[in-house]
Amino acid sequence: MQAFILWALATAPAAAQDKAERGFEIARAQCARCHIVDESNRFTGISSTPSFKTLVTALDDWHERFETFYARNPHPSVVRVEGIAPPKDWMEITPSVRLAVKDLDAITALAERIAAEHGRAK
Ligand code: HEC
Repeated sequence: MQAFILWALATAPAAAQDKAERGFEIARAQCARCHIVDESNRFTGISSTPSFKTLVTALDDWHERFETFYARNPHPSVVRVEGIAPPKDWMEITPSVRLAVKDLDAITALAERIAAEHGRAK
């Protein structure tokens, strides 16, 4: 039992880091053409689109926004999440970003990591 508790304590933060790292890979592949995800894609992205750093530092409700980004403007026209219907009144085009529900968790974990790097609480 004690060994299990020690194991759980040792692996929990590592699991969260892995999830954030997966979120980072997804974001670099799927979000970076519009958003600056971090310093490594500083010169890609669209300048009118907020960087992830700006989102987590400027908005008090950043956590909720990251959890629901796929339903927020302008994402319904480019993002589809497996099993989640897009808003009804949205213009139907061929979405180019396709995510699984577990990818949403990873993206939120990435936002939490970026927020922690900038001293922002949830
Ligand atoms: C086609 C370009 C594009 C892609 C691809 C894109 N975004 Fe965005 N995103 C935007 C724009 C533009 C805004 C700003 C919308 C506004 O200010 O109303 C935005 C805003 C956001 C916001 C803030 C939402 C809000 O309501 O304030 C989050 C969170 C976000 N994006 C996350 C993501 C994530 C995560 C991905 C990748 C899975 C992604 N975006 C992919 C263009 C994009």
